[in-house]
Amino acid sequence: MAILVTGGAGYIGSHTVRALQKQGQDVVVLDNLHKGHRASVRDIPLHVGDLADPSFLDMVFGQHAVEAVVHFAALSLVGESVEYPNRYFRNNAAYALNLLDAMVEHQVDKLVFSSTAAVYGEPVKVPIDEGHPKSPTNPYGESKSMVETMLRRYEEAFGLRSISLRYFNAAGADPSGDIGEDHQPETHLIPIILQTLLGKRSHVKIFGTDYPTDDGTCVRDYIHVNDLSDAHLLALDALSQGCGTSAYNLGSGCGYSVRQVIDAVEAVTGEQVPVAESPRRPGDPAVLVASSSRARSELGWEPQYESLQAIVETAWHWHKNHPNGYEEETP
Ligand code: UFG
Repeated sequence: MAILVTGGAGYIGSHTVRALQKQGQDVVVLDNLHKGHRASVRDIPLHVGDLADPSFLDMVFGQHAVEAVVHFAALSLVGESVEYPNRYFRNNAAYALNLLDAMVEHQVDKLVFSSTAAVYGEPVKVPIDEGHPKSPTNPYGESKSMVETMLRRYEEAFGLRSISLRYFNAAGADPSGDIGEDHQPETHLIPIILQTLLGKRSHVKIFGTDYPTDDGTCVRDYIHVNDLSDAHLLALDALSQGCGTSAYNLGSGCGYSVRQVIDAVEAVTGEQVPVAESPRRPGDPAVLVASSSRARSELGWEPQYESLQAIVETAWHWHKNHPNGYEEETP
């Protein structure tokens, strides 16, 4: 029996595929390669196609005895989602329905869903636990929240059980240095800082220095991508043991400001990061920090990367060795 990973050529997807492979699972990847990278998938069976196409899904499910699905395939840029909400509702929500219907049709009843802290919107209390009101402030978070709603109804109606994993700030790379973060365009803080040190950018813009935080910059909860991958494996185990539909936050529980992230990078690399204080980026909450005690107690999740520096070290290893991301490796 195989685990089907949609979006398995993307950043978190490729790390999870690697973890599943290490666990000895039979893995199949489905990716349209619009954002994902063929080179990250390597020797794993890859079906290139789109969730938009029900006949493609029917073919993939028909070819493999799929036991469970891990669903990453989605658009994930908050700013773009505000500009083009249609793309987000279509790709992330409407096309997810095609996947769910294919699962029902082919009697696959277990799904791990890649959700986000963005389902909560502006926090009313921190740390954020799963009981926090869901009030997304952008179409990206809303599209993910819509899928969570669909999943609850699909369990009631069709017995499809799922676990939604709400990531905070995914960061770092596999310590092997073989796979890592490569977004086009890159919008995330840590890769942007590292690209600056590699001479790909002149400086890092600090978006907002007047937030109500200790140093005036935004605070986020950075969690290593391999710790996220581990949670997917634990979620699959929980579903195999019969657990019902639920959602878990995944974060370290520690908040770091933008300036503290820059300090951590400087400590790891021994280089000074050129910065420019810039206006706030619209839609950024001041502080986002997770309470992940539910994932720890119910899934047995124990993140291995305890410090931001340890996370940054792995990211630096990847970026230093792949300054152009996967580009140079693609045949
Ligand atoms: N930042 C800068 N300069 C940059 C880039 C980012 O100061 O050049 C700041 C941002 O303002 C933010 C922090 O660094 O305060 C982190 O920004 P990222 O873009 O790296 O990550 P976000 O917190 O905006 O987004 C992440 C995920 C989203 C998810 C969101 C949940 O990438 O997919 O968390 O709130 F929706």
